[in-house]
Amino acid sequence: MLWSKPEKRFKGTWEDRLDGIFSAGVTYTGKSVLDVGCNMGVVAYEISKLRPSSIHGIDVLRPHIETARMIFLGSPVESRFDCLNLGSQKLGRVLRPRYDIVMLLAIYHHMQASIGQKKAREVLADIVRRTQTIVARVPPRKDRELIELLSGEGFSVKGTHVSPLGSHVIVLERY
Ligand SMILES: C[S@@+](CC[C@H](N)C(=O)[O-])C[C@H]1O[C@@H](n2cnc3c(N)ncnc32)[C@H](O)[C@@H]1O
Repeated sequence: MLWSKPEKRFKGTWEDRLDGIFSAGVTYTGKSVLDVGCNMGVVAYEISKLRPSSIHGIDVLRPHIETARMIFLGSPVESRFDCLNLGSQKLGRVLRPRYDIVMLLAIYHHMQASIGQKKAREVLADIVRRTQTIVARVPPRKDRELIELLSGEGFSVKGTHVSPLGSHVIVLERY
């Protein structure tokens, strides 16, 4: 059997996807976390090791959500993973009124591509009005656009970090 080459399966590595998330001054312990576009829950699982009070993940791909649910069977952290398109009308019923931290990791440009610029912006506004703290990751050169959008929603940048592969982690707080 051939050894796998992860870089051929998706962009980046889990190491790079996690880079900066735990060194950006955000305390996850005891906090309720929303992971938007949570993929297979690997990042959420790493966060769960710091004992947040809860993790809620949303992703459009069913196999990803089923994997996340399986992974979290072994975690004591309260969790919920919903298979949902962020453009769906159901989103408002699925989201909690408040989260301590919203993770927007490599998701906003995917939302723009899959549900359109206007809808992506509306959905972003609906999600971020529920929190005080955002941890975002964007590809190189996409950081300004997201910062501008989120400053329009009342957030300012508290910290930034560039990963080895060049993605930008941005921590924003409501001012
Ligand atoms: C680049 S991956 C990022 C995954 C994860 N946040 C990370 O940092 O490893 C983007 C994820 O967003 C999900 N996604 C894209 N468009 C979506 C949409 N309209 N609704 C829900 N999930 C979506 C994809 O299925 C994928 O898992």
